Amino acid sequence: MKLPVGAKLTGVGAAVPHRIVTNADLENLVDTSDEWITTRTGIRQRHVVSDNETATGLAVEAAGDAVAFSGIDPSIIDLIIVATSTPDNLYPSTACMVQAAIGASAAAAFDMEAACSGIIYALAVGQQFIGSGTYKTVLVIGVDIHSRFLNWEDRNTCILFGDGAGAFVLQASESENNILATYLRADGKGGHLLSIPNPGTAYPHAGTTPPKAAHRFLQMNGRAIYEFAVNAIPEAVRAACARASIRPEELDFLVPHQANQRIIKAAAERLGMRKEQIVSNLDQYGNTSAASIPLAFADAIRRGQVTPPSTCALVGFGGGLTWGAAIVRWTAVDSRKLSTVTEQREKQQLQETNYQGEGASHE
Ligand code: ACO
Repeated sequence: MKLPVGAKLTGVGAAVPHRIVTNADLENLVDTSDEWITTRTGIRQRHVVSDNETATGLAVEAAGDAVAFSGIDPSIIDLIIVATSTPDNLYPSTACMVQAAIGASAAAAFDMEAACSGIIYALAVGQQFIGSGTYKTVLVIGVDIHSRFLNWEDRNTCILFGDGAGAFVLQASESENNILATYLRADGKGGHLLSIPNPGTAYPHAGTTPPKAAHRFLQMNGRAIYEFAVNAIPEAVRAACARASIRPEELDFLVPHQANQRIIKAAAERLGMRKEQIVSNLDQYGNTSAASIPLAFADAIRRGQVTPPSTCALVGFGGGLTWGAAIVRWTAVDSRKLSTVTEQREKQQLQETNYQGEGASHE
């Protein structure tokens, strides 16, 4: 008899570039002020890649952190999914580069794009591969380096974004299911509200006029995105809770996409959640797009705000338009914090033998 397969969350990790750009730094670039940025967005600083840093490098670092958290050996990873809208290359995919860099030699690998909702979409896809019994260990990464796609002379957009990466490890389990439900939505009619043109398609055929530089930059209708977001977050959380057969009041934490503190506050109030239930590190990192949810989640675990067991709503929104939520039960312990070698070995063995049921393959 085929046993039901749950997706257990066994690791989380994050990485950001070393270079910090403060609001005061931005005052030297555009007509803005620390006071305007802080009161309108909640952002105080963001991390931005230097010339020698890449999306792939950040993804590799976040993946390493998540893998170390879970205590697995990279050789047992079956699939790597990277959610990104700002890859270093159209191909090879970021996921393939990560696969080589971390030594996940048995893993299939692909990128997917759902803008800032990408990590929620990627978690849902990873869960499906595990739930179907196809794979036992899936590494899901969100990474974005929007700084390379911003017009640093446009104060409407350049103040909002930071660069970073975050990752989750999902493992098949007969005894535990940590992704209780997911809910994914899209509305392409709002695509024009937030976009980055592909510089390749923007370039004309040989012999015609080159495009204006603005064609390669992020473009956004901030007001419209704001309105969309404050409705999308509560809708997605309520719908995902309904699918998980829990009430929003039963959630311990809300882990929203980190775009704007006013959006987070308004959405949390609509859901009736208290301040201490909201996970936010936007002030330190800005909007890191597909990375923001695991980056905030990893930070909350490190700070001791989120402790196992906790029921959390991860909720994203962004370009596409896309939005979605995942209701997760967080039960994992950081392998690096286990005190004895025996404890670490036991956890590793448990991870690796979590699911041996029919249908799970490692080809
Ligand atoms: N510094 C100073 N003034 C500014 C700045 C700035 N950085 N940016 C805009 N302004 C000015 C505007 O020019 C405008 O001036 P005007 O009245 O003379 O025309 C004034 O401030 C008000 O501008 P608004 O756009 O109305 O400001 P608002 O209060 O809406 O805040 C903001 C703008 C912060 C962008 C807000 O709309 C927002 O956060 N929207 C959501 C953006 C977002 O989340 N984007 C990403 C989501 S998806 C993803 O993550 C990819």
